[in-house]
Amino acid sequence: MTIGNRLLKIIFFFILISMMNSSFAQDSSIEKKVDSLLARMTMQEKIGQMVRWTDLNSETGKLIKEGKFGTMGDMGWRVRDSLQKIVVEQSRLHIPLAFAADIIHGYHTVFPVPLAQSCSWDSALVEKAARIAALEAASNGLNWTFAPMVDIARDPRWGRIVEGAGEDPFLGSIMAAANVRGYQGKKLSDEGSIAATAKHYVAYGAAQAGRDYNTVDISVRTLRDIYLPPFHAAVNAGAGSIMSAFNDLNGIPASENYFTLTKILRDEWHFKGVVISDYNSIGELVNHGVAANKEDAAREGITAGVDVDLAGDTITGNIYSPYLGDLVRKHIISEKLIDRSVRRVLRLKFRLGLFDHPYVDKEYFRKNMPSQKEKNKIARQLGRESIVLLKNEGHLLPLKKNIHSIALIGPLADDQADLLGPWAPNGIPENVVTVLQGIKDKVSPETKINYVKGCGILDTSRSGFDDAIKAAKESDVAIMVVGESRDMSGEAASRTNLDIPGIQNKLIKKIYEANKHLIIVLMNGRPLTIDWISNNVPSILETWYLGNQTGNAIADVIFGDYNPSGKLTATFPRVVGQIPIFYNHMNTGRPPSPTDHYTSKYIDCPVTPLYPFGYGLSYTDFKFSDIAVNKKQIGMDDSVIVSVNVKNTGDAAGTEVAELYIRKMVASVTRPVEELKGFERVFLNPGESKSINFTLKPEMLEYYGVDMKKIIEPGLIKVMVGGSSDDVISTSFEIVK
Ligand code: BGC
Repeated sequence: MTIGNRLLKIIFFFILISMMNSSFAQDSSIEKKVDSLLARMTMQEKIGQMVRWTDLNSETGKLIKEGKFGTMGDMGWRVRDSLQKIVVEQSRLHIPLAFAADIIHGYHTVFPVPLAQSCSWDSALVEKAARIAALEAASNGLNWTFAPMVDIARDPRWGRIVEGAGEDPFLGSIMAAANVRGYQGKKLSDEGSIAATAKHYVAYGAAQAGRDYNTVDISVRTLRDIYLPPFHAAVNAGAGSIMSAFNDLNGIPASENYFTLTKILRDEWHFKGVVISDYNSIGELVNHGVAANKEDAAREGITAGVDVDLAGDTITGNIYSPYLGDLVRKHIISEKLIDRSVRRVLRLKFRLGLFDHPYVDKEYFRKNMPSQKEKNKIARQLGRESIVLLKNEGHLLPLKKNIHSIALIGPLADDQADLLGPWAPNGIPENVVTVLQGIKDKVSPETKINYVKGCGILDTSRSGFDDAIKAAKESDVAIMVVGESRDMSGEAASRTNLDIPGIQNKLIKKIYEANKHLIIVLMNGRPLTIDWISNNVPSILETWYLGNQTGNAIADVIFGDYNPSGKLTATFPRVVGQIPIFYNHMNTGRPPSPTDHYTSKYIDCPVTPLYPFGYGLSYTDFKFSDIAVNKKQIGMDDSVIVSVNVKNTGDAAGTEVAELYIRKMVASVTRPVEELKGFERVFLNPGESKSINFTLKPEMLEYYGVDMKKIIEPGLIKVMVGGSSDDVISTSFEIVK
């Protein structure tokens, strides 16, 4: 090394140290402020910081002035700022309020539901959508959102599958981090940043029988392999808070679970943010039968590590305000526990910059808010990327824009409200582009659109069938927009029957009889059982709920302005009896074999899903080839580069998602037959091919051994790449000691 180089290295080293110190100094200055504030707080003021209250009444001003609650809900920026003014100017310690609410997939601009977004496999775009949601919410006075939901869901009966990124922990982790980055921006203290909350900690999605709020009983291995990783990713991305879930987990409710809330979250992951309960999840410890009464529940919540009680309103009350003070006075808990939680809340408020800019700075948003046009562009792009083409026999799609006539049928074809999905409280139905409108805007002036509703989502009357059949008969193609209403998925919306509801299936069969050129556009919050449609109807688009730009995004795909690229992130079962069905299952001792009766399968249904994880078609074809690894043998600490070639062999430009899976062939514990470890969206013109590389780092080859410690073991790793979990090419390498 030359003297010049050495000098450069030394200078770089000093710059690095001083940078580390300055960020440390920033943190330590917050810690000092927190300590000094804490030292001056009364018990009541401290407990106030541990409560979120959402009701507004004539008492609110007085209560916040006394420091009775430190966080409130969404109330519009004017009311919000007037409350903030009371606290900042008239309360004893002037600790600003934080305002926290659910922003699940957009605030004013409603984006696709999270399950849909995950099917885009486009984390950069997901991050952009979350950024816009944050800006809109912050401009309306919010500082903190209860999102992203990062629960892995392997059971589509569970209605909340719609709120997350599907069944895979790797993809779920990437989406979790993207959302956190989007909400929190570059700096949490920026005006346009809001604190993210990864929820519902933890394993809420594993509710027995898919029934919401139900018991979860899974192994610690499954907990660590499947359900914890997205939370860990959110913590690593700097999430300001975590929400403790409703469910009991292996005998211990999540909101009093010291193992998950303190041992894992704080001791293992060094999480410094706030743990907020789910709505009354501390109070419900009484119903779980682990707390004798509400006081006992409060003791358990705080002891396990829940800092803030979310359920503050006049209906539920809350558990922390009335009981924590008494628990300290009676020496049942130490004041140190209270201080610990208050410190976390104050730290978050300092990190949010609330002490420096307690009010909404409208000028900032005037300057920094993207135009509605730009926001709609992102919503539309994310909408079309979220759509999954499930079937396209005979290339029925895309349609020509100058097609002579289209029959547009179905309860969701001209609907607006449902398209917002189950959780968009600020979404305005009138702002939603319907499918009818989207198609009208796309086709030539000569195209005749014969729109007939046909039936409602849950109708029993067939009175609209005849008109719909007539329209189908008279048109070149029929497009049916069918599915679930928005309230059929989401919280407390579990189903035992996953068929398209009501008499819609009957109408579909009639329309198919009338016109075989039938395109089914599905709208739903979960994988549905659509075996008949899949066996008969030529074209099927899964569109979930796409928010404000629904009609435009769907029309873009139907008429080929966007070549579909979405891939399923949750497996579609053939029948409900297959559930839970997911791609990353174990091999079992008797993997299914069609020629051997005594193997793991069903006697009345194939063992395979209808559509697997990672599946999704395009208007073009892609071919994967030349899969290779840069080393056939690696040491225990080495990385491997996997290369593969992907070619567009069809005649339309399009994007393929290259999905990388691995399988550890022999290990000391059973390992999944496939585990996603990488993916890349690749745009290719017709005839074009690209070589892509994935790096498998040592930590990606780790798993929990027999004693639940992370290990890498020698042995063969099968490496697979393809455009679906069930359509891959493979190679292998070996880990050696
Ligand atoms: C839901 C949470 C939500 C909370 C606050 C609860 O019922 O489970 O996801 O954040 O309400 O609205």
